[in-house]
Parts: sequence; C-alpha cells; structure tokens
Amino acid sequence: MQWTEDLSVGVETIDGQHRELFDKINDLVAAVRQSACRYKIGDVIRFLEDYVVFHFGEEEKYMMRYAYPAYQSHKAQHEEFIENFNELKKELPKLEGGKKPGSYDLSVETNKVVVDWILDHIAKVDKSLGKFLQDKV
Ligand SMILES: [Fe+2]
Ligand SMILES: [Fe+2]
Repeated sequence: MQWTEDLSVGVETIDGQHRELFDKINDLVAAVRQSACRYKIGDVIRFLEDYVVFHFGEEEKYMMRYAYPAYQSHKAQHEEFIENFNELKKELPKLEGGKKPGSYDLSVETNKVVVDWILDHIAKVDKSLGKFLQDKV
C-alpha cells in the first residue's frame, strides 16, 4: 500500500507518522505473504505495534490539548484497533515459515484488520481531526 497526498490530514507531524506507519504495515503484509519465520514475523509485529501505540498517543495528545469534541469516539477507534491487532498477533506466529495451510487466510485477515482499517480510519476519523487542528497547530 502506498501513501498518497489524498491521504493527507493537513498536519505535517501526523502525515509523517502515517507515512512511517505505512512502511511498517507493508513490512508486516510482506512477511505474512511470504510466510516468514516466526522470529521475523515477531519482529515486524513488535515494530508496528510500538509505532501504532506511539502514533495513537500523539494524536490523543493533540485532541486533549485542544479539547477536541470527538476525542472519546476517536480514542475508542484506536482502542478497537489495538484489540483486533492483539487477536491477530496470536495467530500470526503460527505461520512458522514456509507455506502452511491457513497462511492465505491469515494474509486476508491481516489485510482486513490492518490495511483496510488504517485506510478507512485516516480517510474519515483522522481527516476530521486534521481539519479541526488546521488553524491551531
Ligand atoms: Fe487516529
Ligand atoms: Fe492516525
């Protein structure tokens, strides 16, 4: 997946973090597609997870600092992602390298939980936040 200008929320720091997030998501998608060994999968999961937590935290700081009205519902979406990602995290290391039955399903699941979610979240929820922050940051 590729970050494009139409995904810009208009706040430079947030856009930069989204680009970084895309790189890490692409690493995960590639590792799952290749059914990389559990160590490699474990590494990319940790990188992505750390970065997601950092990024959500940054957005939430902005929301609190400027008393964003939709803070609760935006934060709830972040929490929902973490929950779904934690479920996925239990499944992915089972790939253990090589093509295994179920690896296709895990690819599809990863795309749904991570890729589809982030695209939808940026396009709607993060863009609304970006618009609100526009004249403030
Ligand atoms: Fe967000
Ligand atoms: Fe975001």
